[in-house]
Amino acid sequence: MVSGLGFGFCLLLFFNNLTIVPKCLGANDTLTQFQQLLVGQTLVSPGGIFELGFFVPGNSSTQYVGIWLKIIPTRRIVWVANRENALSANDLSSKLIISSDGNLKLLDGQQRTVWSTAVTVTSNSTIAMLSDKGDFTLKDNVSGVSLWQSFDFPADTLLANMMLGYNFKTGKKNFLTSWKSDSDPAPGNFVVGLSEETPPQGFTWNGSKPYWRGGPWNGWKFVGIPDQEAGYQNGMMLVQDNQQGTVYLTYNLLNNSFLATTAIESSGLLKILRWEEQLNKWNTNWEAPENPCDVYGACGPFGVCSMGTSPICQCLKGYHPKLDEEWGKGNWTSGCVRRAQFTCERNSGNISSDKSQKDGFWKLSGVKLPDLYEYLYMIGDAQSCQEWCLNNCSCGAYAYPGGIGCMVWVKDLMDIQQFSFAGEDLYLRLANSELGNTIIVSMFYL
Ligand SMILES: *[C@@H]1O[C@H](CO)[C@@H](O)[C@H](O)[C@H]1NC(C)=O
Ligand SMILES: *[C@@H]1O[C@H](CO)[C@@H](O)[C@H](O)[C@H]1NC(C)=O
Ligand SMILES: *[C@@H]1O[C@H](CO)[C@@H](O)[C@H](O)[C@H]1NC(C)=O
Ligand SMILES: *[C@@H]1O[C@H](CO)[C@@H](O)[C@H](O)[C@H]1NC(C)=O
Ligand SMILES: *[C@@H]1O[C@H](CO)[C@@H](O)[C@H](O)[C@H]1NC(C)=O
Ligand SMILES: *[C@@H]1O[C@H](CO)[C@@H](O)[C@H](O)[C@H]1NC(C)=O
Ligand SMILES: *[C@@H]1O[C@H](CO)[C@@H](O)[C@H](O)[C@H]1NC(C)=O
Ligand SMILES: *[C@@H]1O[C@H](CO)[C@@H](O)[C@H](O)[C@H]1NC(C)=O
Ligand SMILES: *[C@@H]1O[C@H](CO)[C@@H](O)[C@H](O)[C@H]1NC(C)=O
Repeated sequence: MVSGLGFGFCLLLFFNNLTIVPKCLGANDTLTQFQQLLVGQTLVSPGGIFELGFFVPGNSSTQYVGIWLKIIPTRRIVWVANRENALSANDLSSKLIISSDGNLKLLDGQQRTVWSTAVTVTSNSTIAMLSDKGDFTLKDNVSGVSLWQSFDFPADTLLANMMLGYNFKTGKKNFLTSWKSDSDPAPGNFVVGLSEETPPQGFTWNGSKPYWRGGPWNGWKFVGIPDQEAGYQNGMMLVQDNQQGTVYLTYNLLNNSFLATTAIESSGLLKILRWEEQLNKWNTNWEAPENPCDVYGACGPFGVCSMGTSPICQCLKGYHPKLDEEWGKGNWTSGCVRRAQFTCERNSGNISSDKSQKDGFWKLSGVKLPDLYEYLYMIGDAQSCQEWCLNNCSCGAYAYPGGIGCMVWVKDLMDIQQFSFAGEDLYLRLANSELGNTIIVSMFYL
């Protein structure tokens, strides 16, 4: 039954114009019902870029089936099949098979199933293939239809062409989940995904709590990431299909896209890594959170975090610490509260009462726009957005960022960061008394 799986080797063939064509001799990218993949054997993608097989992480005594990049010398696991159900590292008779029901199954030495693709297969002939994109696919060999693919079940790594996001019709989420530790691929605390709102935001959650926020997508990047690395320069795209009910983030570099990955570490750090051929190592091109201000809600509601001030947390203009003593000790979790009532509040919601005492707006430039927004897609210009905010007494701020449009905040202003470069403009509502009589704060004369 044992085929010649995994005993192949790969060559880089150079043609006269220096085009590199990886070619693998004797290797196999396909598992069939007539074969089994044993410990020590591997499948290799046609171009010799990815490899699939059994591995033992770190110093652990457990064993898994996973995918790694074959083309580089340091092994970096990009996908794990049985992360929730480890095999013993001593179990050398474990095997990956396509069972009689057409599914991929991972069996331990006692023939117990520790992992399975568990899809309904009507065909009596399925095969599993590893592609040069790093996708392991179970296919109907007759129709060629894909029945299951590893790209739909991400581990901690987003490879080029993978889709990170969700289907709001089926509820299926393709999010990244960190490993428990460097030697334990079991699902850890940190999950990376998109929020279910419009426009969606990139998030890292620690359990159910937000840990880091990338801000809303504006068509080419998340506006809360000043660094372009995490945007279009990386070939990143947000693909929305309302008919299918899907919102997915994906990226595709033209050349050698497999040499760039995005991964969530067990510590909660989200990294964009690129393999540097000259240095022969992974280089971190970008990571988050990078500093204390990047951690979600570092300064509490209505606080602003800036690495350029000391202490890093300040209250927004017109606001003061909710709990002075704690704030003074550097415990900023309770955040800030507003000092003065808005005019509309004083007049119990009668916004047209006292024109001379009208609330105004204070512009904050270069910030990470706060969380908990409402998106008013039908409002088509910044002035109407300001008017809407002024006319709703619950509205504490608005913004009109390029690529998005009218955003308003009627709840807490949460997770604002002052950047040293880039960032967006936020218009904070202030009571007339806070504005001072010399400053004209409104952008428009209403
Ligand atoms: C690869 O798998 C196919 C399909 O089972 C088989 O025909 C072929 O002999 C295998 N090649 C090697 C080198 O094992
Ligand atoms: C493995 O064990 C060695 C020695 O105890 C230790 O130095 C190393 O950090 C461990 N590696 C991992 C990945 O845990
Ligand atoms: C699959 O089913 C077809 C038609 O029922 C049959 O002819 C064929 O022999 C079957 N193939 C296998 C591998 O069982
Ligand atoms: C898959 O289909 C191809 C083409 O029809 C055929 O040559 C091959 O034998 C099939 N493999 C299996 C495992 O059924
Ligand atoms: C993640 O959440 C856990 C449980 O609430 C907490 O103990 C841990 O400190 C958090 N990690 C980080 C990096 O904030
Ligand atoms: C991809 O390769 C082509 C040809 O070598 C080169 O002209 C182009 O700049 C490369 N693109 C990127 C994004 O590196
Ligand atoms: C910070 O303040 C909050 C709110 O009063 C309190 O629950 C928490 O224990 C404080 N944290 C520390 C580290 O003192
Ligand atoms: C709102 O204020 C205006 C001007 O002071 C006043 O004429 C009007 O009666 C007030 N409306 C209500 C509902 O109180
Ligand atoms: C203010 O806006 C919020 C959120 O859109 C809405 O729920 C609320 O009813 C509005 N209040 C008024 C007075 O229009």
